[in-house]
Amino acid sequence: MNKIQALKAFRPEDLFEVAKAILDSFKNERVFALYGKMGTGKTTLVKAFAEVLGSSDVVSSPTFSLVNEYDDRQGSTFYHFDFYRIKHVEEAFDIGFEEYLYSGKYCFLEWPEKISQLLPETYVYISIEVNENEERLVTFNLNENNHQEH
Ligand SMILES: Nc1ncnc2c1ncn2[C@@H]1O[C@H](COP(=O)(O)OP(=O)(O)OP(=O)(O)O)[C@@H](O)[C@H]1O
Ligand SMILES: [Mg+2]
Repeated sequence: MNKIQALKAFRPEDLFEVAKAILDSFKNERVFALYGKMGTGKTTLVKAFAEVLGSSDVVSSPTFSLVNEYDDRQGSTFYHFDFYRIKHVEEAFDIGFEEYLYSGKYCFLEWPEKISQLLPETYVYISIEVNENEERLVTFNLNENNHQEH
């Protein structure tokens, strides 16, 4: 049921198909948590999601805020978070993160491990790894949170 899928992307352009496959696999999900070390391509994958959703907005990492807001083809909104710089989980509360999460709009999260306790019960777990050939392996599956204790 909840099988792990994996796709390769050798070039950033290949991520369009990857993003499409992920969205097609989880049509009812709206929260996508992107895990991966620095520079593996999380922002680049969010760009690909934006393309698949038909956005003509320029996607770049939120630098001065935690969230960027974009419009898709239908003029509907979706959100791109980057929690890299967050020091306390309260900062996410302060921007109303939970309202975004339950807004029913697409939410793409970079560095979700920084706010792990705020993740919803169900979300799409995405991991990006780079191999020795600079090729990206994108792994994804539905995570049904079992509220692990740390
Ligand atoms: N599939 C890919 N194939 C080749 N290069 C890629 C791929 N995806 C991303 N890159 C390149 O990797 C670099 C870093 O990408 P990106 O900024 O998306 O990483 P990131 O995971 O968001 O980093 P950070 O942790 O700093 O937020 C960029 O130069 C990008 O072009
Ligand atoms: Mg990034």
